[in-house]
Amino acid sequence: MPERTHPQTIHALNEALRAEHTAILQYLQHTYALGGTFADELEEIAREEMWHLKALGEAVADLGGEPAVWARGDIQVDAPSPATLLRLDLAAEERMIVRCRRGTASAEDHAARRLFERLLQDEEAHRHEVEEMTEALERRPRLTLVIPRTSTRTIQLLAEDVQAEYRVLLKYLYQSFKLRHSHSEISRTLELQAIESMKHLGWFSEAIVALGGRILPRPESPVPMEGSLLALLKGDLGDEQAALAQYRRHLGEVSEPEARAPLLRISGQEVFHEEEFVELIARVARQEGTGKE
Ligand SMILES: [Fe+2]
Ligand SMILES: [Fe+2]
Ligand SMILES: [Fe+2]
Ligand SMILES: [Fe+2]
Repeated sequence: MPERTHPQTIHALNEALRAEHTAILQYLQHTYALGGTFADELEEIAREEMWHLKALGEAVADLGGEPAVWARGDIQVDAPSPATLLRLDLAAEERMIVRCRRGTASAEDHAARRLFERLLQDEEAHRHEVEEMTEALERRPRLTLVIPRTSTRTIQLLAEDVQAEYRVLLKYLYQSFKLRHSHSEISRTLELQAIESMKHLGWFSEAIVALGGRILPRPESPVPMEGSLLALLKGDLGDEQAALAQYRRHLGEVSEPEARAPLLRISGQEVFHEEEFVELIARVARQEGTGKE
C-alpha cells in the first residue's frame, strides 16, 4: 500500500472522479432522452468518461488516497428541448476543462499532472463534439425529447435490477483500486467484473426506456473494505448469488419480451460470475493455507 502523499492532489483527483461519475450517468440518460439521435456519439463519450473515472481512481490509489467512488453530483435530465439538454453537457465539459487546467497547473505529482493533461485533451474534444451536436439540434427545432410516461410493475422490477448492478459496479471498482498494489491479479478480475456490471446496467436501462420508463439509479452508500481478503471475496460472491436469485425471480414475474431478453442473458452471465468468485475464493484459501500471498 503506497504511503499517502500530496493530499491536495488526491483531493483534486477525487473531485474530478466525482465529476466523471456524474457525467457518465448524465450522458447515458441524455442518450435515452434523445431517442436514438446521436446515440453512438454520446455513448462513445460516455465510454471515454468511464475510462477517465478508472484512471482517476487508480491515480488516487497510487497516491495512497481513498478513491471517492460513491460521490456524485446532481444529474440534470430535464430540459425544454434536445438542444438545451445537450447544453447541460456542454456546460459540464467546460467545468471539467477548468478543473483539468487547474489540476495540470497545481498537481504535485508527475503522474497525476500527466493524467490531468490527458483528460484536458479529451474534454476539449468532447466540448467540440457536443457543441457540434447541439448546433445540429438547434437546426432541427421539431425534434422533441422522449418523455417517459409509464411506470409499470415491470419497470419497477427492472429499476431494482439497475440498482443491483450499480451497487456492485461501484463496489468492484473501489475494491479493484484498493487492491491494485497488494493483489494485482484479483484487482484486475474485479475491474473486469465492474465492466460487466456496467454493461448489465446499460441493458437493463435500455429495457426500461423501451418500455416507456426512465430510471436513474439512486446514490449508493460506501462499502468499506474491512476484514480479510477472503471475507471480501465471499461478500462479493454473496452479491452475485443474490443478483442471480433476483433476476430469476423477476423472470418468473415479467412477460414483456423487452424485459425477458436482458434478464435471461444477464442471468446466464451471472452464473459465470458466481463460478469465477468460487474459484477465486478457493485459490485465495489455498494460498493462505500455504502461507503464500
Ligand atoms: Fe472525462
Ligand atoms: Fe468529457
Ligand atoms: Fe451483472
Ligand atoms: Fe455479476
